[in-house]
Amino acid sequence: MVFLKDQEQNILYILFGNKKFKFVLRLSVKRVTMTEKIIRFGVSIEPELLNKFDKTIKKKSYTNRSEAIRDLIRKYIIVEESQETDAEGLGTLTILYDHHVSALKNRLIDIQHDHHQEILTTTHIHIDHNNCLEVLVIRGKTKEIKKLADAIKALKGIKHGELVITRASV
Ligand code: NI
Repeated sequence: MVFLKDQEQNILYILFGNKKFKFVLRLSVKRVTMTEKIIRFGVSIEPELLNKFDKTIKKKSYTNRSEAIRDLIRKYIIVEESQETDAEGLGTLTILYDHHVSALKNRLIDIQHDHHQEILTTTHIHIDHNNCLEVLVIRGKTKEIKKLADAIKALKGIKHGELVITRASV
């Protein structure tokens, strides 16, 4: 079998024995610009978490994980960028944690004392034998509120943390 390709006319000849087959190539090569480029990357994830994610995105009518993850990334970037300002605001940080994780309670108290001027109030609820829920109300520059909330959320033992920022001037 011999392949002969006419580059100019996009015609492919295949010689098979004494027979010659002619194919007109209609493969349109899509021009890929930098913005259209798609990069594939691997994500390590626990099966249980992925299973929950799949169920959640199915309810939201996503047909595949990639689209759901792209939307999440866009949303994340928008939220992060909108909070990086000098504007004065108020934040409520809700955290859920296991109070058995050693050093966490002390670290949380230390941080709250270090920021006693910004943290207006803290509400603590004992949810069950292990878990505690706290809501911190923080006042200050939006970016400072975010920085403080990020520092608390990053502490080992914090299971979930969510910051909501609002402004009196809205
Ligand atoms: Ni508690």
